[in-house]
Amino acid sequence: MATKKAPAKKIDTNKSPFDNKGTRLHDIPPSTDHLTFMTQGWAPSPLEGVVAHASVPFTKKRRAKLSKAYKGHRLVIPAGNLKVRSNDSDYQFRAHSAFSWLTGIGADDAVPDSVLILEPLVGKTGHEALLFIHPRSSRQEDEFFRNARHGEFWVGRRMTKEETEKRYGITVRHIDTLPAFLKGKKKVLVVRGEDKAVDSIVKTTKIQDKEFVTHLSEMRLIKDQYEIDEMKKAIAITARGFDDMVKVFPEAIRSPKGERVIEGAFFSRARVEGNDIGYPSIIASGSHACILHWIRNDGQVKKGDLILIDAGAETDAFYTADITRTLPINGKFSKEQRRIYDIVLEASNAGIAAVKPGADFGDFHKAAMKVVATRMAELGVLPISPEESLRPDRGLHRRWMPHSTGHMLGIDVHDCAQARRENYTLAKLEPGMILTVEPGIYIHPDDEFVPPEYRGIGVRIEDDILVTKDGNINLSAGIPRTPEAVEKWVKKLAR
Ligand code: GLY
Ligand code: MN
Ligand code: MN
Repeated sequence: MATKKAPAKKIDTNKSPFDNKGTRLHDIPPSTDHLTFMTQGWAPSPLEGVVAHASVPFTKKRRAKLSKAYKGHRLVIPAGNLKVRSNDSDYQFRAHSAFSWLTGIGADDAVPDSVLILEPLVGKTGHEALLFIHPRSSRQEDEFFRNARHGEFWVGRRMTKEETEKRYGITVRHIDTLPAFLKGKKKVLVVRGEDKAVDSIVKTTKIQDKEFVTHLSEMRLIKDQYEIDEMKKAIAITARGFDDMVKVFPEAIRSPKGERVIEGAFFSRARVEGNDIGYPSIIASGSHACILHWIRNDGQVKKGDLILIDAGAETDAFYTADITRTLPINGKFSKEQRRIYDIVLEASNAGIAAVKPGADFGDFHKAAMKVVATRMAELGVLPISPEESLRPDRGLHRRWMPHSTGHMLGIDVHDCAQARRENYTLAKLEPGMILTVEPGIYIHPDDEFVPPEYRGIGVRIEDDILVTKDGNINLSAGIPRTPEAVEKWVKKLAR
């Protein structure tokens, strides 16, 4: 049966075609008729279903706190530009952490080149928050179907100004008005190096900008409830991702690049349930575990070896877990593997026990190192006594544990990294901080200080710890840690 065709709409050929921004050499130039045709016949899409984002009450408080610290200054916090991967292909966009933290805008709505400005109120204290964005493409210009970097037909729909205001509780302006807005103001502080246009317009002192970034980093040392909830989400996704990885061990053993099989399983979980991985996964089989940042992940996975897996899923709000487990691929630790594993677990437990309010940030590292030095001496490999090795001017045990025992964690995997030492590594722990405890022992295959049967063994156990009023909560304790639980886990899932 012939179907009845809808009558074609008439084209108004008097409408002028538009210019040609954002096209590439291999794009096929449209005809004038095509351009004109594209401006017509689009149904209106009304503002519907936009509700306030859960972060709104929190971001308001964060901005109010920042405002108090910088009276009379204009504060400029860009989301950042797209970053080129090669030629005209970009990396997936990930907004700058300070921008996301102050706006609540995460993966679902982050638009490259957006800029948050806290503008001092005239004649009053405080600031008005202004968010400059590329709002939704207009159908009266050609961007929506010709601009491969920003156009709606290429990268999807952006929110309108009104939608953004409703969702994030902030005044929104068009990005085209930003250059004029930015000119001429005297007291301005900028997060530099994120947005080329902003950097070229705003002239400031580098030292003041650096202090501003330091302040923003330090503001995130203590997490609010929204952030704690996001961290719990990230850790729950990561826990499921670890299960996924263990399940593919048999397939990994069969593949010449078994580490990649495992990496892919985690990536899939992180993308399906979250935004992404929070940092490149480390999937280190056998002696690859001794390479601290082994992210090539192209090695074989062999029965009888251990595999060190350091992976974290990032939520849509950009919060990331950072968790390491070391597992026997065949579900059973050898005597030597077990001995090293037990030392690392003891160091981890000692480290976690030292995490409490009022403790020095350095205390958990010291507690873990005491275990490592003592047990490596018992193994007969430390050429001096553990007491002597633990002196800051000696530290020989660090041959097998060269990294620090942990770091702040949150919207960045190495969170608050611009904070001053006196407020971070030299400060006291406080409730609401989230940090990793991640001791390890790495015995390189060519380490002649260690008996041959231990060479090539690398173990790390990394957990994400919330400092509470009374002590701490190990947020990642649900992922097996004891050797018995780890063996059971592998035997159950890797079949
Ligand atoms: N995955 C990076 C770290 O543990 O710090
Ligand atoms: Mn890690
Ligand atoms: Mn870590």
